[in-house]
Amino acid sequence: METLLNEKAIADRVSELGGSFTEIYRGRPLTVLGVLNGSVILVADLIRAINIPHQIGFVRASSYRGETTVAGQLTIDTDLLPDITGRDVLLVDDIFDTGRTMARLLGELQRYQPASIRSMALLWKPARREVELVPDFYGFQIPDAFVVGYGLDYNDDYRHLRQIQVLNSEEI
Ligand code: IMP
Ligand code: MG
Repeated sequence: METLLNEKAIADRVSELGGSFTEIYRGRPLTVLGVLNGSVILVADLIRAINIPHQIGFVRASSYRGETTVAGQLTIDTDLLPDITGRDVLLVDDIFDTGRTMARLLGELQRYQPASIRSMALLWKPARREVELVPDFYGFQIPDAFVVGYGLDYNDDYRHLRQIQVLNSEEI
């Protein structure tokens, strides 16, 4: 597997984003809301780079993909959602691919009447976008390749890798 982003590149960018959020949300009731499972590692690193008091929470989104990149039925599960009414929500996902997951989640979360809601994806594949929306914040724009590591999976495996790697079709 070819490394696309190494551990240091990811760590530097996540710190940088955390620094920006520290300024943007200073004095605000921030909730960092991660999308399970892909965002767990990102959330753990990002919140430690945000140097103001804030809360965290999670929602689950699963799209049943037979093959690597074909979007299927998207299921949203808000059972774990904390109270976000009147709070500034930063919705954090591992990757913005077609954008359907982010678009669906932003729509669903409006129902809870947060004070504001912005989106962040560590990775963004602009070539694959299928919705009007773009992420408010992102770590890296990447080409249209299937990537794993740092929370990103293929069939629920490879999430533990410290770096982000391209999974070639012969390895699938
Ligand atoms: P979207 O709804 O098409 O934007 O897809 C978002 C979800 O698809 C992400 O949360 C990932 O779970 C998954 N996904 C999209 N591209 C990749 C990839 O290259 N590697 C691993 N997962 C991906
Ligand atoms: Mg995923």
